[in-house]
Amino acid sequence: MNLIEGHLAIDPPSGVPVWDIDPYDPAILSDPREYYAELRSKGPFAYIPRYSILACGRYGETKEVFSDWSRFVSSRGVGILDLKFAAPFQARSIIIDVDPPYHAKTRTVLARAMSPRAVAELKEKFREDAERLVDSLIGRGTFDAVQDLAEVFPTNVFPRAAGLKETDRRRLIDYGAMVFNAIGPENDLRRKAMKRVEEILPWVMERTKRDMIEPETFGATIYAAADEGEITEQEAGMLVRALLGAGIDTTVTGIGNALWCLGQNPDAFELLKEDPNLARPAFEETLRYTSPVSAFYRTANCDTEVSGTRIVEGSKILCVLGSANLDESHWPNADRFDIRRRPFGHLALGTGIHGCVGQNVARAEVDAVLTAIARKVNRIEFAGEAVWRPNNAMHALDRMPMTFVPN
Ligand code: HEM
Repeated sequence: MNLIEGHLAIDPPSGVPVWDIDPYDPAILSDPREYYAELRSKGPFAYIPRYSILACGRYGETKEVFSDWSRFVSSRGVGILDLKFAAPFQARSIIIDVDPPYHAKTRTVLARAMSPRAVAELKEKFREDAERLVDSLIGRGTFDAVQDLAEVFPTNVFPRAAGLKETDRRRLIDYGAMVFNAIGPENDLRRKAMKRVEEILPWVMERTKRDMIEPETFGATIYAAADEGEITEQEAGMLVRALLGAGIDTTVTGIGNALWCLGQNPDAFELLKEDPNLARPAFEETLRYTSPVSAFYRTANCDTEVSGTRIVEGSKILCVLGSANLDESHWPNADRFDIRRRPFGHLALGTGIHGCVGQNVARAEVDAVLTAIARKVNRIEFAGEAVWRPNNAMHALDRMPMTFVPN
């Protein structure tokens, strides 16, 4: 057995182009559009020898592989490691790294915790918080839209909604970045993120214990499922932690990317001001256009075939969601940011049984922020260069100086 990056090494399948590229090159992670386009031009799959993986970036195949949980499993890890052979840096996730039937059990609990009703009850609070934050930034002149806005809003509202008694902005964001960097190979980004494990994990473990969770929160609903015997006490703690790992850095990135899109496209911002109800479609288009979660893996659990390509058991397949969301054969004018588009079926929140279970929360948060901006801000201006922060699985900004010109 020959392992590479913690998974089985495979030969290039017949007919699949061999592509000597490093998709984890920081320059590509920061600005992936050319790489996405080239990946699509190669055909349904490309073989990347450096990591002995297959990559797909056309809409059809990416969706097929990403959603067919029986052939392309998550239980062998959604990162480059095959959990059959290698251990992850923290206990395996009991929601994202598992298959049916076990997955249905944990998914039911999380879906209940973040039901449309539970989220609806938070909307007013989100709106008030967003308005206060936008008011404070309008009065400030130039600010950093990442540090002072995108990172502030979710770390104010989400840990509270999850039930945490105290929050620590930096630790929570870095925890998310750590989880997402761990998706990738043993490179500088992953090594650097892993250095923080010993400092961050115990903090997270402590804050997610039952007696640290406030009543009437997502976390309380999860622990109530343990009281009913639906899941164990230990599983409840793991699910609360899963929310913190998956629910903060992603939304931070969603807000930052939305502002970047609106800053780049003043016409879109004009439309949003005229009709703040476009906040929701503007977020969906941001998701399609920038794919905050750029790529996750699946592992072939049997010998199979997709679009004529033979795929052997154990193959790791990099599903490049960011590329599928820009596939011009699926999206007319894919390269245009158009908030009137209804990008139904984009893959930015996944699809199928593992589709983002926190999507109602993410939508409610970003909707609150974009609506407040649409109502109160006349013009969004860049006050310096927007800089992206390379991450092995996220397309996220590092800093973005901006000014909100008030009405
Ligand atoms: C699943 C993206 C916000 C919790 C996913 C998946 C994607 C995604 C692509 C699919 C993973 C897969 O199939 O392997 C995003 C983006 C977000 C966001 C782009 C924000 C813009 C959130 C929030 C939460 C959350 C706010 C928590 C409240 C989860 C969880 C899963 C998941 C627990 C695993 C679901 C499962 O395996 O059944 N998300 N997410 N996400 N997301 Fe999100």
